[in-house]
Amino acid sequence: MNRIAVIGTGYVGLATGAGFARLGHDVTCADIDAAKVEQLNRGEVTILEPGLPELVRDGLDQGRLRFVVGAAEAARDCEFAYLCVQTPQDSMGAADMRFIEQAARDIGAVLPEGAIVVTKSTVPVGATLLVAAALKRPDVAVVSNPEFLREGSAMRDFLNPTRIVIGADAREVADRVAALFRDVSAPVIITDPASAETIKYAANSFLAAKVSFVNSLSAVCEAVGADIQDVVLGIGTDPRIGTDFLQPGPGWGGSCLPKDTRALVHISAQAGYDFSLLRSVIAANEEQFDRVVAKVSRAAGGDLRGRSVAAWGLAFKANTNDLRASPAMEIIARLVAAGAEVRSYDPAVEEIDGLKVVDSAMEACDGADALVVLTEWDEFRRVDWDEVGERMRTRTVVDARGVVDRAAAARAGFTFVGI
Ligand code: UDX
Repeated sequence: MNRIAVIGTGYVGLATGAGFARLGHDVTCADIDAAKVEQLNRGEVTILEPGLPELVRDGLDQGRLRFVVGAAEAARDCEFAYLCVQTPQDSMGAADMRFIEQAARDIGAVLPEGAIVVTKSTVPVGATLLVAAALKRPDVAVVSNPEFLREGSAMRDFLNPTRIVIGADAREVADRVAALFRDVSAPVIITDPASAETIKYAANSFLAAKVSFVNSLSAVCEAVGADIQDVVLGIGTDPRIGTDFLQPGPGWGGSCLPKDTRALVHISAQAGYDFSLLRSVIAANEEQFDRVVAKVSRAAGGDLRGRSVAAWGLAFKANTNDLRASPAMEIIARLVAAGAEVRSYDPAVEEIDGLKVVDSAMEACDGADALVVLTEWDEFRRVDWDEVGERMRTRTVVDARGVVDRAAAARAGFTFVGI
């Protein structure tokens, strides 16, 4: 058992804190928001993440997890301090390091002798040096331990990770961080901080490239009359390629892939290398949004002005209420810009400023000239297509997620457009 401070109780911080408590450590999580700290101490979690509220409540009940206001308060008595604060990004892809540097200054003043500081936030390559400078503590080592948590399965990913990456300058320090995961069975990759930081960007950029590749391939399939699902099966069975992350869709989004691809382009450019391949991966994603919009426009009669469009799904993927860089939101914004009136529905989203969000999938369809499916929620797989058709003005559906029961929709007289 070790004493761990986790600074920042956003998505990554909360999952990390609850996960370490589950592994038997004594965890103190800090946030600057006093109301949030109070809420968390009552066991109230507002993030939609399976298993997270239960782990937080277990940790609180067993006395292994607590929440306090302020980084210094948490770090005073710890052996390890995990920095999990936000690192927002500007339009060029550069990370704003103000929050993480402030947190480092706060804990630097109080950390016990010989403590280890670990960066978990996604940080630019070289950030451990910046953190070390802000800490002003030569006795404190700074280590990178990037996270690979997927929203919707973050706790499973924390407790059963595919790998644990630790970047440290000294082997002995890396081993101490590795020991925190003693009860987790996964390969441990020990390297230097710059490599660990690069691994995080490279993993998410590669995943984005896979999805952009399959989305572009779907355009080719459409043009030559091939079936993208069969093509994916045909290439994915080669273990060097693999079937995972080859599901064509409306484009990739979320809190990590867009941010990390842009960051890697930026980091490369600053280092004097034009990562043109990755720039194309990003451009292909923008094209994919436009492809979906063009499909909806054709389905609605060729011109979106004055047309009513029903949009099913707002979250960037199913089983989350996260709208950050959501392809659905990107596509809806383009539909609205082209003159469409959009009525949207998402089981996990109640309201959004400036957008009509209704309470049910059926309600979204009232009077619509076209329906577009943008998030792969299970409830969209089993709908009564006769009722959907009765509510709509024209029976057309654009399925950007491959969830529509095509046979059932066809029986109800729908024109189906896929990706
Ligand atoms: C991702 C990484 O998977 C995770 O390891 C990292 O730590 C954070 O970023 P997440 O953002 O939760 O996780 O989303 P993920 O499930 O990876 O999906 C990313 C985007 O790609 C979503 O918009 C998703 O809909 C899209 N996607 C994914 C596809 O369009 N097709 C696929 O086959 C897979």
